[in-house]
Amino acid sequence: ETIFGHLGRNGFARTTDPAAADVLLLNTCAIRENAEDRIIGRLGQLSRLKAGRPNVQLGIAGCMAQHVRDRLMDRLPFVDFVVGPDAYRRLPELLRGAVGDPFVDVRLDRNETYADIAPARDGAVRGWVTIMRGCDKFCTFCIVPYVRGRERSLPAAALLDQVRALAADGVREVVFLGQTVNAYHDGTTDFATLLRRTNDIEGIERIRFTSPHPSDMTPAAIAAMAECEKVCPQLHLPVQSGSDRVLARMERGYTVDAYRRLVDDLRRAIPGIALSTDIIVGFPGEDAQDFDATVALMEEVGYDSAFLFQYSQRSMTKASKWEDSVPAEEKGRRLRAVIDLQEATSAAAQRRLIGTVHEVLVEGPARKRSGWLAGKTPHFRTAVFPSDVARPGDTVLVRVDDATAHTLIGRPATAEVARAAAGSGATEIRTATPG
Ligand code: 5AD
Ligand code: SF4
Repeated sequence: ETIFGHLGRNGFARTTDPAAADVLLLNTCAIRENAEDRIIGRLGQLSRLKAGRPNVQLGIAGCMAQHVRDRLMDRLPFVDFVVGPDAYRRLPELLRGAVGDPFVDVRLDRNETYADIAPARDGAVRGWVTIMRGCDKFCTFCIVPYVRGRERSLPAAALLDQVRALAADGVREVVFLGQTVNAYHDGTTDFATLLRRTNDIEGIERIRFTSPHPSDMTPAAIAAMAECEKVCPQLHLPVQSGSDRVLARMERGYTVDAYRRLVDDLRRAIPGIALSTDIIVGFPGEDAQDFDATVALMEEVGYDSAFLFQYSQRSMTKASKWEDSVPAEEKGRRLRAVIDLQEATSAAAQRRLIGTVHEVLVEGPARKRSGWLAGKTPHFRTAVFPSDVARPGDTVLVRVDDATAHTLIGRPATAEVARAAAGSGATEIRTATPG
């Protein structure tokens, strides 16, 4: 959205038809190896669109550009340009000047925040707002600090203006983004204060953020979450491993016990909060006992959902200098085990919601059922229901009739059901999570 915003103000228009485009730009992520492999394949496909159209420019943006520029330029001669995450500002100039002449700008700039560039929104109900960029944590498995550079926050005043503008445009839900979003600090305003100020903005109904780091989840941030009625009862809290030995080698900066206490504090402050996580299996040196500890923590916390990865070596990182000791087959086995566990946990948690009523913020038509709408509950669960009156941006009370591991299937609640739910003091009635 930032790139489109910037190009849009410099005479470029967006097309969704690759065959009609003069500029083909792939935005990329370097964090895991398989994302990188997919981009290489996609570049090959897109390069065919250049046949017979010598002025078409094909390039890549983002942190993978930062990472593999040399390999890309050598191996993929049809790539015309590579712009790293801090070089988007130069895109219009580079695109105009460099036809037929490959260019590369991957310099990192510790001050670049794009604070003055208004992102091009697609008029959606949800607006993403980058509040900080980069990361200073240097977890030993992670390439992000090397390809996105140093941690820096955008000024709170500019961010609050951005959110007010979003509200005026009809955006109802704002999602703050950052690699370690809760490390936000612009010199005067910290993350908790930013949440409180955003909570005061009229027209915004829901506030979310991703991804926080457990070590930066301060009592002040938890209190702000609990006290701001617009901050949703939902948190993505990457744990990475349930073994202290592995966490120490990952240099995550917390122990399993500290993480457990954090979960307790969150659940006490925000009853029924939905928690999700990231987990890596097969980190160097992870033995059967370490892995069992991760499974045990997953069972104990009972995450609503989880992103589960097998470890892959990323260049420049500390861990890439260690032996990638867990065999691929064993990594695959461990990954399947945690996926199966999470699917079962998610399905059970969703099924427990049958019969409950939720406020669903409508986003648009449901993908699989015509005449149905889809949206999210405050806990970030996807809900679908039939309706020919509700519009995107409306909040509809939905009673859950059925549930899969990933979707709640319901119908608009009758006034009576809604009153009963309201009378019980909550629009969502949730049983405790397992463990
Ligand atoms: N291998 C596997 N997963 C990784 N992640 C980051 N680096 C790696 C890696 N080298 C995962 C982490 C992070 C998520 C965004 O990607 O779980 O939280
Ligand atoms: Fe990577 Fe997140 Fe660790 Fe930063 S905090 S190094 S982005 S895993």
